[in-house]
Amino acid sequence: MKTTVSIIKADIGSVGGHAVTHQALKDKCNENLSKAVEDGLLSDFYITNCGDDIDMIMTHTNGVDNTEVHELAFNTFMEGAEIAKGLKLYGAGQDLLSDTFSGNIKGMGPGSAEMEFEERGADPVFAYCCDKTEPGAFNLPIFKMFADPFNTAGLVIDPKLHGGFEFEVYDVIENKKVTLACPDEMYDLLALIGSTGRYVIKNVYRRSDGEIAATISTDRLNLMAGKYIGKDDPVALVRAQSGFPAGGETTEPFSFPHLVSGWMRGSHNGPLMPVAESDARPVRFDGPPRVLGLGFQVCNAKLVGPIDMFADPAFDEARKTATLAANYMRRHGPFEPHRLPSEEMEYTSLPGVMEKLEGRFEDM
Ligand code: F6R
Ligand code: MG
Ligand code: MG
Repeated sequence: MKTTVSIIKADIGSVGGHAVTHQALKDKCNENLSKAVEDGLLSDFYITNCGDDIDMIMTHTNGVDNTEVHELAFNTFMEGAEIAKGLKLYGAGQDLLSDTFSGNIKGMGPGSAEMEFEERGADPVFAYCCDKTEPGAFNLPIFKMFADPFNTAGLVIDPKLHGGFEFEVYDVIENKKVTLACPDEMYDLLALIGSTGRYVIKNVYRRSDGEIAATISTDRLNLMAGKYIGKDDPVALVRAQSGFPAGGETTEPFSFPHLVSGWMRGSHNGPLMPVAESDARPVRFDGPPRVLGLGFQVCNAKLVGPIDMFADPAFDEARKTATLAANYMRRHGPFEPHRLPSEEMEYTSLPGVMEKLEGRFEDM
């Protein structure tokens, strides 16, 4: 029987403005998912949060896009949102775009990343959860994990990885997708995914047998393609070891806190800081953007672990670099490239300025 790992996530309210979700909301998630385990819908789950986003990591045997699992997640977030409203939490229910479930959680606000696979003898799966950034933030680290031999030694020296990986890329503006194989089409792939606001890696497959290797949440952007609707704090699921990158080859890209879009008002570029679960609190200028990493073993559709991958001194230097980069970027204030180009900003006050000044612009 195949095992499915699903992360479904949403921001349904937070404390300290958009900083951190509330324990009462996680308790509600815990209560509902525990019941779903008792009822046999889920096999296991782990609930965490990155900043104001609650990430429900669930295992089951119902496959991806399962209506009941999606309905459970949606209704749980709805109930959580009621608690959030009662506590007057900030942004209570903000990611729920509808009040009734309609078959699939895609398009209803929450983000999701799901994969189904036949369990190997031992099956390590990593969950990477972000706050204050967008799905394109994963382009660079996912590329490095599965295509960069300077990151992933296995691509060169392990015969099981040597055939390379295929990347399924979404064009979130034109609502199209394309699959490119590495290493053969690496330059074409980079030509696309370097443009993180438009081309987003959705899935990665091993070329030798088509096995799923990684999947990234892109839901909201995908749904609203053609119109810029703001950031959607993303999550990724990554399989590791024995024919996939080693666990440490999946954490390694995050040792470079690359610049991503998001941060304050979803309108700034800043470094993606790798943090422990306890530090997943974007409190400086609503950031800087954060990523946490959890390493599990999947065992008969149950979750063993997790290990908090970035709760380690080996990532202290990355955090220091992120702080330096944050200082440097912040000093630009409202100037690009700290502030995003106007068409990518979540808050579009600039058109208002343009309307006001319209009559005052003269030909030169
Ligand atoms: C970014 C984010 C926050 C808010 C900011 C202003 O994704 O959620 O940075 O944009 O705190 O929030 P409002 O407009 O609600 O005051
Ligand atoms: Mg929020
Ligand atoms: Mg968030």
